[in-house]
Amino acid sequence: MNAPPPGNASGEGRYGEAFFRPDRAGEEVRIDFGAVAYDDFTMARLRSLGAGPGWRCLDIGAGTGTVSRRLLEEAGVANVLAVDRDVRFLSARPVPGLDVLQADITRPGFAPGGFQLVHARFVLMHLPERDRLIEHLAELLAPGGVLVLSDAVDLTSDRTPVTPYTTAMRAMWQGLRATIGTDVSRVPSYPGLLRGAGLQRVAAEIHVPPLVPGSAISRFWADTWRRGREAMLSTGLVDDAAVDAAARYLESDECAALSAGMLTAWGRKPEGATG
Ligand SMILES: C[S@@+](CC[C@H](N)C(=O)[O-])C[C@H]1O[C@@H](n2cnc3c(N)ncnc32)[C@H](O)[C@@H]1O
Repeated sequence: MNAPPPGNASGEGRYGEAFFRPDRAGEEVRIDFGAVAYDDFTMARLRSLGAGPGWRCLDIGAGTGTVSRRLLEEAGVANVLAVDRDVRFLSARPVPGLDVLQADITRPGFAPGGFQLVHARFVLMHLPERDRLIEHLAELLAPGGVLVLSDAVDLTSDRTPVTPYTTAMRAMWQGLRATIGTDVSRVPSYPGLLRGAGLQRVAAEIHVPPLVPGSAISRFWADTWRRGREAMLSTGLVDDAAVDAAARYLESDECAALSAGMLTAWGRKPEGATG
């Protein structure tokens, strides 16, 4: 139960390397389960912030590109630059107006600019450099442009009733933090970090999709536990039987738990700003 994790216990492993490798069969299906659970909510927020005709957009860590494509096809934006450290899923589903760039956003030299929208969902929480990156992403905005960040918030706490689900989630967050550096504890700080990056009209909201049997979010968590199982076991908080029990619990009528939520925070670059 306490075998060393395949990532680096000091947090030097990276998303997509020790866990969630894009070359492992079905990883795009896992990302799409998350997208199905959250895309409508994300699109409603982006459109209410003004995403529409004429906008140049940057989608950071775009994954399978569901938001990038919906910005083009539904919101009618002019162009989306979709960036990811691995673009195989983006390249497989091209649409007019979608430009694809393979880049690691933590590396020096990542500096496209002048966007009306910079969007990053479920990316920064996996990157230990998140505070510096938020400042950098704010610099990529055109004056008046909006930076929109969405990441997970853990709604289990010491006061949450213990269920197979809450036990598995605690092991998942703890295991991913120790192996690849995923840290959701900083996500509620995003509004303050956006203001600290010089952005204005900062606000935030949380969406929590219901954990009902067969839902996209329930399937997303079960698949995430399957792919991140070694990190979970390495915490000593769960064994294989506990992870299996949590997956069965999600698909049972007994399930009564709150999914991790998605916090979305945004802020605008002042109209007169330069650089
Ligand atoms: C959980 S997925 C989210 C995908 C998409 N944003 C969504 O919400 O559906 C995280 C994505 O971030 C990408 N990613 C992780 N680290 C990255 C980095 N350093 N630079 C660029 N992309 C990165 C991964 O390859 C993956 O596609």
